[in-house]
Amino acid sequence: MPDPLSRFPRFQLAHLPTPLTEMVRLRAALTERMEPPPPRLFIKRDDCTGLAGGGNKTRKLEFLIGDALAKGCDTVVTTGALQSNHARQTAAAAATAGLRCVLVLFDSVPYEGHAYRGSGNLLLDRILGADIRIEPADADAGAVFARVMAEIEAGGSRPYLVPVGGSNAVGSLGYVGAYLEIADGLDALRIGAARIVHASSSGGTQAGLVTGRQLRGRGPSVTGVNVYRSDTDAMAASIHALACKTAALLGISAPAADAVTLDGRYLGERYGIPTAEMRMAVELVARQEGVLLDPVYTGKGMAGFIAQVLAGDHADVEALVFLHTGGMPGLFAYDGEF
Ligand SMILES: Cc1ncc(COP(=O)(O)O)c(C=O)c1O
Repeated sequence: MPDPLSRFPRFQLAHLPTPLTEMVRLRAALTERMEPPPPRLFIKRDDCTGLAGGGNKTRKLEFLIGDALAKGCDTVVTTGALQSNHARQTAAAAATAGLRCVLVLFDSVPYEGHAYRGSGNLLLDRILGADIRIEPADADAGAVFARVMAEIEAGGSRPYLVPVGGSNAVGSLGYVGAYLEIADGLDALRIGAARIVHASSSGGTQAGLVTGRQLRGRGPSVTGVNVYRSDTDAMAASIHALACKTAALLGISAPAADAVTLDGRYLGERYGIPTAEMRMAVELVARQEGVLLDPVYTGKGMAGFIAQVLAGDHADVEALVFLHTGGMPGLFAYDGEF
């Protein structure tokens, strides 16, 4: 089919396609602990998108930066927690495109590790030249953005606001493309029924994948592991709403609400606070596969993936694909956990 994304402004940032590789040793380790054996296990390496440490935001930012440039903007503004991977990737994307970048980072995660407020993504944000504004957890976000946008405009610049996680319909287009890439990769391996499992947070990744499936009409189903909010049902509803907006942007029919499957069992106490299962998953995958996950997203996502596999939740498919969405710099901010 002709590329359904070709009519949207796009600024090339990612090294694509990212590798799709089989996790033979992880599967062997899990097979020892269960009967019957699990489906084949794959990993889609979106940590290898290539932009300043890689990760899922690179694909979204291709469309968001494309849109910013098409609108004549010269300054990108975005937001997240202090250790936001999205903020780091946005700073890198802006640098690549020759745009200024302002990061409004909320000190919202009650984590007291000694490196949390200086290392990891925050260190990289500084190196990438971002203008960093740190706000307290209880700051009025709307008022803060209004102030920052007005200040940029008063200086004669044109700001472009990227929402948290790059999760709007434009950003989600990046994961429509990723879905098509994964589905084609599985077809090339002659794999039939399959499922993609990934860490879900601001929702643009899952909304894009679900919309990609709607566009293609067939292919792997999608299960998100909630690493973000305690109200999983409300979060699934907002991901579905975003998928509907993404479908409307593409001019296709909306996916059904039940296309969004979100597992809320692996968040732990709250976003950004480590769990024992996360630590075990990060170490297991590092030691079996030589792949580094992260403490906030993919570590909890993989904890969910492993627990689901061991519980036999995916016995109905031939293959599972864990989508590695990046985040490795976060390990340095949580160094005391390992
Ligand atoms: C490493 C990593 N994985 C997963 C996610 C979740 O993606 P989304 O916000 O699109 O749900 C994020 C988002 O910040 C992330 O940084």
